[in-house]
Amino acid sequence: MNENLKQQLEQLRQVLEHHNYRYYVLDDPEITDAEYDRLLRELIAIENQHPEWITPDSPSQRVGAPPLQVFASMQHTLPMLSLDNSLDEAEMREFNQRTRRLLDTTEEIEYLCEVKLDGLAVELIYEKGLLTIGATRGDGIYGEEITRNLKTIASIPLRLRTTAAAIPERLEVRGEAIMPLREFRRLNQSRLEEGEPPFANPRNAAAGSLRQLDSTITAGRRLDFYPYGIGVCSAPLPQTHNQLLQWFAILGFKTNPLAKICTGIEAVIAYHRDMMEQRDTLGYEIDGIVVKVNDLAKQERMGIRSRSPRWAIAYKFPAREEITRVENIIAQVGRTGVLTPVAVLDPVRIGGVTVSRSTLHNQDEVDRLDVRIGDWVVIQRAGDVIPKIVRVIRERRDGSEIPYILPDRCPACGSHTIQSPGEVAWRCVNLSCPAQLKERILHFASKGGMDIEGMGEKLIDQLVEKGVVQSIADLFFLEKNQLIELERMADKSAEKLLAAIAASRQRPLDRLLFALGIRFVGEHISRVLVDAMGNLDSIMQSSVEELLAIHEIGPQVADSVVTFFAQAENRQLIVRLKAGGVQFQSMEKKRGDKLAGKTFVVTGTLAHYSRQEIEQRIEELGGRAAASVSRKTDYVIVGENPGSKAEKARELGVPILSEEDLLNMIGEQRSGN
Ligand code: IVH
Repeated sequence: MNENLKQQLEQLRQVLEHHNYRYYVLDDPEITDAEYDRLLRELIAIENQHPEWITPDSPSQRVGAPPLQVFASMQHTLPMLSLDNSLDEAEMREFNQRTRRLLDTTEEIEYLCEVKLDGLAVELIYEKGLLTIGATRGDGIYGEEITRNLKTIASIPLRLRTTAAAIPERLEVRGEAIMPLREFRRLNQSRLEEGEPPFANPRNAAAGSLRQLDSTITAGRRLDFYPYGIGVCSAPLPQTHNQLLQWFAILGFKTNPLAKICTGIEAVIAYHRDMMEQRDTLGYEIDGIVVKVNDLAKQERMGIRSRSPRWAIAYKFPAREEITRVENIIAQVGRTGVLTPVAVLDPVRIGGVTVSRSTLHNQDEVDRLDVRIGDWVVIQRAGDVIPKIVRVIRERRDGSEIPYILPDRCPACGSHTIQSPGEVAWRCVNLSCPAQLKERILHFASKGGMDIEGMGEKLIDQLVEKGVVQSIADLFFLEKNQLIELERMADKSAEKLLAAIAASRQRPLDRLLFALGIRFVGEHISRVLVDAMGNLDSIMQSSVEELLAIHEIGPQVADSVVTFFAQAENRQLIVRLKAGGVQFQSMEKKRGDKLAGKTFVVTGTLAHYSRQEIEQRIEELGGRAAASVSRKTDYVIVGENPGSKAEKARELGVPILSEEDLLNMIGEQRSGN
């Protein structure tokens, strides 16, 4: 019995690692996120039963571990160097001349150019192929041991891929841990909603996430990793840096596709220009390029100077900064009532984008910057990250500048604002505040939510201001004559809008749940809740304890969900949404686990199902439908006129089931044809 379970566990691990690699390294997934989560939950369930079976490279180790008190300090076997910087072409030409001189050549030098990733340098130590230690760069000599946190990064192999000819006894891989921009924006958005200070840039966010003593927090941050260097390696090294990168790819790392061999300094300068152009489209922050002599033997000959190698240099991009004036500071009311101070700027172009507003996040930030109405300020735009005020130019003050404090009344409804204990944020707590309602509708109708096309800001302003819509549910009772009275709303557009609203009634339950705008319940958590509970009534009736029993649901979410549905207004909202015809069923069939971890192959014609139907049913119940029989196949389902697959099953000793057997197994009966 235990043997079987252990086999199942090992198979699950292999399957999970395979899909992890497909998704995070190759960016070519074969299964959905929900399927992956289900498999992972299954694995964790078995490991909970048998903690003695947990291995350091089990995919379960990516979800985080109990919090640490402090990080251990550790000395790098070889110091982690830093790079000299160059800011212009002239300096790069000097670097090229110096390189030629040191290598005593008049020929063009072959460089390997990479992008300079703006994250946190880390070192990963593999012993016999197993990731044993991960550390920050620290001061280059000593770093902090953050192994558990690094293990949560899906593109870092927990075990090197064995397809490589030989796995070295010891291998120290160095590279950059980064936070993708999408993730950065998502994180800051939720921090703001929670009244926490946002991270200033993706680098700080990556560093902050990796320096969490609680690795489950890191696990929730979806970082990424690209290797770019090596420390100690007990195997012979390849000849060039480019080959080193290729080797990393073979070992299972995700290597950066932008690395390029550039022969001669002109090619390097062209690469720099190219990358500057591509910079905003990459999905992560880069702040320049790194130019390395490609030949490792030549690197060795050139050596290092104090803390940086002579064979490499960073060629940075110019900073994207501009100066402009703060015309006003206003308070914006968000969906949860939080008042956010926003600087209204004299419009200015930075890196091709016109910037006319910049959020100041909260009063603490206003105070920290000491920004006043009328101030001249430096605006910075990092990547496609939201532009921000980095500092005030005090020398330009003439005394007419006006300090700002958030109003103690809501600018939209005039209610008193309050500050919850332990939070920086001030909120308007008037549940019928029109500004909050507008934001809630905007969120409700957004793409990730109910996706109501045409439900934009201007329209929502009118609907709320005219009192036509006083609650989200009112959207589903709108009539054409009410719409036609609005500005810029003709017969046709009113009909289109009504059709869009009608279509939204059928959105899957997880989208609806997300659209409700419950604190901490984002798109992913909504899916987790719906997957686990199946319907809204169960979610509404759950206790904190019941919610906590769901994998990935923590105390914050559980509390928030229970509090939300405990409020009479919110229950009322659900009743009215139902009355308005909104669909409350989960559209996706709930995934069962009767066939969890089992692989089936179907051959021949079945009486009650088409091939496609039965395969779908198997997957719905947590099994896998494969095309060909192997030793890993658990069962072969044989119908009329089976092909060679039945033969193969017999040869390999794979159990053969009839359609009837399968139906019995899953407890389903079908009569007739
Ligand atoms: S090579 C000896 N390559 O830049 C070479 N560094 O200023 C040491 N960085 O600490 C680093 N992208 O955090 C290298 N493609 C890249 C890089 C890169 C980003 C960072 C790294 C390092 C810093 C040096």
